[in-house]
Amino acid sequence: MAQGRLQGKTALITGGTSGIGLATAQLFAREGARVAVTGRAAGRFDAIRAQLGDDSLVIDADVHSLPALRAMGERVAEAFGGLDVFFANAGIAYPTPLRETDEAHYDDIMDVNLKGVFFSMRAIEPILRPGASVILNCSFIIHVGRPGISLLAASKAALRSLARSWSRELLERGIRVNALSPGGIDTPLHERNGGTPEAIQARKASLAERVPLGRLGSALEMAQAALFLASDESRYMLGAELVVDGGISQI
Ligand SMILES: NC(=O)c1ccc[n+]([C@@H]2O[C@H](COP(=O)([O-])OP(=O)(O)OC[C@H]3O[C@@H](n4cnc5c(N)ncnc54)[C@H](OP(=O)(O)O)[C@@H]3O)[C@@H](O)[C@H]2O)c1
Repeated sequence: MAQGRLQGKTALITGGTSGIGLATAQLFAREGARVAVTGRAAGRFDAIRAQLGDDSLVIDADVHSLPALRAMGERVAEAFGGLDVFFANAGIAYPTPLRETDEAHYDDIMDVNLKGVFFSMRAIEPILRPGASVILNCSFIIHVGRPGISLLAASKAALRSLARSWSRELLERGIRVNALSPGGIDTPLHERNGGTPEAIQARKASLAERVPLGRLGSALEMAQAALFLASDESRYMLGAELVVDGGISQI
């Protein structure tokens, strides 16, 4: 049998219980990695672990909680010894029009999308092995001005900056930090903001209409891009960004 592209490696994916993160965890496991995922939906943990293999870890860790993130780092260190791949993927998205957005909304988006990534990285940086690959899940939205989603765009733009800064900070250890910027992807994220099934379908259709390739992307297509960034095939990418968005930010 051919060797997997992540054979013998260890990987941690935050928000690995749904959508892009779960598809990536499944693909990484198929490619030979030992995988740890985090999320909050404890009721689904056993089913997810069954999909990822007996040597996988499913960790209950809300990124709002710094103690939970420290415990996540300790658990991964204990089980895996060190990490070759870290995919900071947990994130939330909902509209924040200027006149309808209060401090609680601001804190919520920034706490999960920016502070959560910063302190997840803070917790696992000591256990990253030389040559490790770190991937920060951004968004195409950082490249275009769209009404009503400024906080989402700003939180993700900050991650794009972190990829550059951390690449320099960790350069001497051979650790590469790159950004992955998905376009509109068909995942449960679009259902999390409520509405009837028809309303959710209409929102997704309206987003798909704006994509030059004429459709939303799939979680598997993002997982395949993450696999490239995780593997040695992307070894000459450093502090860079892979935009995988059907052309929505380009054309
Ligand atoms: N879908 C898109 O169109 C799109 C486009 C651009 C970028 N992205 C980015 O891609 C990433 C994954 O999105 P997705 O579409 O796969 O969404 P999703 O299906 O909603 O999955 C989000 C994941 O993040 C986890 N999560 C959310 N809040 C968390 C918290 N406070 N603490 C810990 N985990 C938390 C969720 O865990 P639980 O299920 O346990 O809550 C879930 O595993 C996000 O960062 C998103 O911004 C998505």
